[in-house]
Amino acid sequence: MVIVGDDPASRIYVNSKKKACAELGIYSEEHALPVSTTEEELLKLVEELNNKSDISGILVQLPLPEHINEENIILAIDPKKDVDAFHPVNVGKIMVGNYDFVPCTPAGVMELIAESGVDIAGKECVVVGRSNIVGKPQAMLLLHKNGTVTVCHSKTKDLKEKTKKADILVAAVGVPEMITGDMIKEGAVVIDVGMNRLADKKLVGDVHFESAEKVVSAITPVPGGVGPMTIAMLMKNTVKAAVINRTGLK
Ligand code: GUN
Repeated sequence: MVIVGDDPASRIYVNSKKKACAELGIYSEEHALPVSTTEEELLKLVEELNNKSDISGILVQLPLPEHINEENIILAIDPKKDVDAFHPVNVGKIMVGNYDFVPCTPAGVMELIAESGVDIAGKECVVVGRSNIVGKPQAMLLLHKNGTVTVCHSKTKDLKEKTKKADILVAAVGVPEMITGDMIKEGAVVIDVGMNRLADKKLVGDVHFESAEKVVSAITPVPGGVGPMTIAMLMKNTVKAAVINRTGLK
């Protein structure tokens, strides 16, 4: 795990990932670098980790400080060690549907849907948010399961009209409690990826839970819904990476 700077949210995420590794007996090391770290220094560290045979997975916590080009760093990670599945090689594999690593948050969402016994095939799936980390890969994973997928974003006209059609609604916009009960179809399955800290320190999702709860057949809470699943999927990718890197098998 590589963390640059002192973003408090990133620190919490990295601590949770370290704890999960420790609980599972997965060896982990943290490289905490100062905010003044240059792109060259970070690239050098990634290269060192690429070449270390006792390291199977590399995770560079995002966001990086503004003076570092995230794309360059992601490109430098060996795709076989890319447990976040952010490298374009892994992104491309997800697009064609033949992948080793699945991005952790969308993978966690898929696991929650599957474990709840919800069949995706033929369902109207609406993803609100189009980030490279969540929205885009989420849409692709739902499509692979034969959902009819709509991706909404900040320029979408009449968002409510779109969300109201969703049998499965994934909210990943990063706007506190933006999706309210009146925007949700009766009986829908709602997965809330949002993690928003309000001024009073309260943690809320992208869905207004109290109003949504009255309409849905199932909904994830924040905190305690998608968050722990993301970490679990990271551990799964890490074990997979260890097998791939040590044996060449999949
Ligand atoms: N920042 C927010 N989510 C993630 C994630 O899943 N992985 C990394 N590396 N950084 C993030």
